Amino acid sequence: MTNDYTEFVSSIKKQTGIDLGLYKEKQMKRRLTSLREKRGFDTFSSYFKAVKNDRELLTELLDRMTINVSEFFRNRLRWERLQSNLLPDLLKDKDRINVWSAACSTGEEPYTLAILLHEFLRWDQMNILATDLDETVLHKAQQGIYHERSLKEVTKEQKRKYFHHEGQVYQVNDELKKVISFEQHNLLADSFTGKYDLICCRNVLIYFTDEAKTKIYTQFAHHLNEGGILFVGSTEQIFHPEKYGLRAIDSFFYQKV
Ligand SMILES: C[S@@+](CC[C@H](N)C(=O)[O-])C[C@H]1O[C@@H](n2cnc3c(N)ncnc32)[C@H](O)[C@@H]1O
Repeated sequence: MTNDYTEFVSSIKKQTGIDLGLYKEKQMKRRLTSLREKRGFDTFSSYFKAVKNDRELLTELLDRMTINVSEFFRNRLRWERLQSNLLPDLLKDKDRINVWSAACSTGEEPYTLAILLHEFLRWDQMNILATDLDETVLHKAQQGIYHERSLKEVTKEQKRKYFHHEGQVYQVNDELKKVISFEQHNLLADSFTGKYDLICCRNVLIYFTDEAKTKIYTQFAHHLNEGGILFVGSTEQIFHPEKYGLRAIDSFFYQKV
């Protein structure tokens, strides 16, 4: 049975370039086993044969493996810390800022960043790169259309300023869209480029092995400008940030030294 899964992992890597071996095995195996059983396959090898020839099954599998839940101002208190304690310092003596929202899912995170930064800067002073492995979520992100439930942490004033409300849905304004570039990027396989003042990578590294995390933190640190900040998810504290040339400046915020 273990071999069955291991072979599946290597077949998926050949087929899609995605290395499931770099995700925590127990969790990933549980998620994929339940999907495989739901589709009526007894083994991963018979499941793979079907997935190989069926685009829909493959899309469903990729959807299951990438957990896409997100919302605007997820863990609102952290965003308030960023706004009131960290951004004023970070933006001191800067007239523009370069930001990366890595593993941005359906876009709530990069749009949240744009809304926050607009408290301090004009639209033409910010540049936000938003990336994810999954093209389906990136497409949704680009559309920028959300249900009320994704906006429960957004204030009335922010809704009025940054969204167009129609029926059950909210559409983000074009101004916000213009400052964000959405691109596909696999944190576990693709090269990292650019230099950033703020990298936001939340609620994805928890799914990765320690080895994969170490590599990614090393790269993030390398791609931060001096004094730049790495913002991680609320269960993703970095132990020994000094290993990467980072220092903790608040819970879940690390600064490049
Ligand atoms: C739970 S969402 C996090 C969304 C957002 N950062 C937040 O905190 O609300 C995790 C995202 O990680 C993406 N993801 C999973 N593996 C990835 C990888 N290897 N490279 C880039 N993104 C990945 C998924 O597609 C998913 O959209």
